[in-house]
Amino acid sequence: MNNYIDLSNKNILVTGASSGIGKSLVKTLDKYGANVIMIARNEDKLIEIKNSLNGTNNKYYPYDLADIDGIEQLIKHIVEENGKLDGYVHSAGVGPTCPINLTTYKFIHEVMLVNFYSFVEISRVYAKKKNNNGGSIVAVSSMASLRGDNAKMAYCASKAAVDGAVRALAVELKAKGIRVNSVQPGWVNTEMFEEYLKMGGDDARNRFKNNPKNTVVEPEEIAETISFLLSDNASVLSGISMITNAVGL
Ligand SMILES: NC(=O)c1ccc[n+]([C@@H]2O[C@H](COP(=O)([O-])OP(=O)(O)OC[C@H]3O[C@@H](n4cnc5c(N)ncnc54)[C@H](OP(=O)(O)O)[C@@H]3O)[C@@H](O)[C@H]2O)c1
Repeated sequence: MNNYIDLSNKNILVTGASSGIGKSLVKTLDKYGANVIMIARNEDKLIEIKNSLNGTNNKYYPYDLADIDGIEQLIKHIVEENGKLDGYVHSAGVGPTCPINLTTYKFIHEVMLVNFYSFVEISRVYAKKKNNNGGSIVAVSSMASLRGDNAKMAYCASKAAVDGAVRALAVELKAKGIRVNSVQPGWVNTEMFEEYLKMGGDDARNRFKNNPKNTVVEPEEIAETISFLLSDNASVLSGISMITNAVGL
C-alpha cells in the first residue's frame, strides 16, 4: 500500500459505525488497510456497510451503548474473536435539543450514557493489557465542547466531559503506550446535522443559508483527520482536542 497513512492489519474499533462520521470513517479505515470492528444498534445498516468494504476481516457487533454494564463482556468477546485492539474511535453520539426548563436529570443522563459514559467504559476496558497493542484512542467530541448553543446544555456538557477525560486518560495511559485524543468538529453533513436543521426551523436554516464555504464539511473529511490520529504518523500527539472546520462558525 502506498498511502501516507498505513493502518494495514490494525484492529480498529469504531462506535457509531452505522451512520455519518462513523460510517465514513469505516470506509476510510478500510481504504487504509485496517480490520474494522463496527458497533452501533442498527444491524441492517452495519451489514450493508460491511458488504460495501474491500477488506475481508471487517466485523460488526450490534449493541446499544446505553447498556454500560454489558460493555466489558462485549469487548472481551470482540478481542477473543479478532485479537487485541490497535485503536478505538468513539463516534457514537446523540445531540438532542431541549430548553433548560425541560432538561431533567434523566434527560442529561441519557445523553451522558452514549456520549460520555460508554466512551469512558470502553476506554477502561481497552486499556487492560490483554485487550490492546498500545495504539490510539480518538473521541469524536465537538465544537460544542468549547461554545454554547441554544437548548443544547446536555450535549455541550457531555462533549466538555469527553475532552476532560481525554486529557486525563492521555496522562494515565501514556505508560501503556496508548495515545488519547479527540476531534472537535464544527458542523458536519450527517443525519445529526439534518435533525438540527429540522428541529431549529427557520432560525437554524437561515444560519447556514449564506455560510462561507467549508463551514459545513463532509464526514469523509473528518474521517481523514481521525485516521491520521490513529496512525503512527501522529505518534507524538496525545492529550489534544483538535478543532476542525471552525472557520466561520
Ligand atoms: N454532525 C455534526 O455536525 C457533528 C459535529 C460535531 C460533532 N459531532 C459528533 O460526531 C459523532 C457522530 O455524529 P454524526 O453526525 O455522524 O451523527 P449520526 O449520523 O446521527 O450518527 C450517530 C451514530 O451514533 C450511533 N448511536 C447513537 N446512539 C447509540 C446507542 N445508544 N448505542 C450505539 N450507537 C448509538 C448511531 O447508530 P445506531 O442508531 O445504529 O445505534 C449512529 O451510528 C457524534 O458524537 C456527534 O456528537 C457531529
